[in-house]
Amino acid sequence: MSNEHIEKSYENSTPENVIVTGGGSGIGEAICLRLASRQRHIYVIDIDLNQAKRVATLINQQNFMATPILLDVSDHRAVLDILNNLPNPPNILINNAGVSAIGNLENTTEETLDHLYSVNVKSIYNCAYAVIPIMRRDSRGGLIINLASVASSVGVSERFAYSMSKGAVLSMTMSIAKDYVNSGIRCNCVSPGRVHTPFVDNYLSKYYDDKSSEMFAELSKSQPIGRMGQPEEVAALVEYLCGPQATFITGSNFPIDGGFVTLNS
Ligand SMILES: NC(=O)c1ccc[n+]([C@@H]2O[C@H](COP(=O)([O-])OP(=O)(O)OC[C@H]3O[C@@H](n4cnc5c(N)ncnc54)[C@H](O)[C@@H]3O)[C@@H](O)[C@H]2O)c1
Repeated sequence: MSNEHIEKSYENSTPENVIVTGGGSGIGEAICLRLASRQRHIYVIDIDLNQAKRVATLINQQNFMATPILLDVSDHRAVLDILNNLPNPPNILINNAGVSAIGNLENTTEETLDHLYSVNVKSIYNCAYAVIPIMRRDSRGGLIINLASVASSVGVSERFAYSMSKGAVLSMTMSIAKDYVNSGIRCNCVSPGRVHTPFVDNYLSKYYDDKSSEMFAELSKSQPIGRMGQPEEVAALVEYLCGPQATFITGSNFPIDGGFVTLNS
């Protein structure tokens, strides 16, 4: 499809109200900035209000609409209170907020397991639980995109809790897609390999303080393409999935991983 055709189909499509969880940093920030010019209103949700405000300000400065919202997406009641009362009802939900942890089963504490479940798994249930009835109202329909990972479908060493959580993201995606296809709601996920964001920098400094640059090089090489991804590359894929050319896609997982899953096996 030519650029001209793509622009035409955007002109004919209705801009949507979009929720991006974890929109204050990394991939979520890149998604907010990328979608702002195409969509009507971006709700930048984060547990770190300053970061959410920073991203919303960048969008507002370009004369697009964004609102920062402080919310812990693992808190069921708080999610319902806030998402049920947004001034513009959401048509697109991007479940991006996530946390990581390193360790095999034996050195994963119960507290870490519960934390990753709450932020990476339960948050998707919480946000979709709030938003699906809004999308079903008046047969409006909608779209949900979840941030999964290569860890959803292959074993990544020393990522026991993280893999548990991202496996659930993939299966929740397929389950939501199947249950709501007749309500006009589509659901897909994207599965990045390593993407250079604060998420990666934070765990390198937390777990590999003295040799974080060696680990950075090692993690880069684990993608057969030889580098980490950029947040903007994931955001471009998400933009496509939110756009008018992607309306036939549901229940699908999109790896974006420099060949990590397919070429390493
Ligand atoms: N960076 C990678 O290599 C990579 C690879 C595969 C998948 N992912 C996934 O992509 C998503 C984004 O990762 P990133 O690298 O941009 O991370 P990041 O750490 O840069 O950003 C995550 C954002 O989520 C927010 N957040 C964390 N807990 C929250 C909560 N309880 N409520 C609301 N907001 C919360 C953080 O404040 C932060 O702004 C995550 O789901 C992650 O698992 C990342």
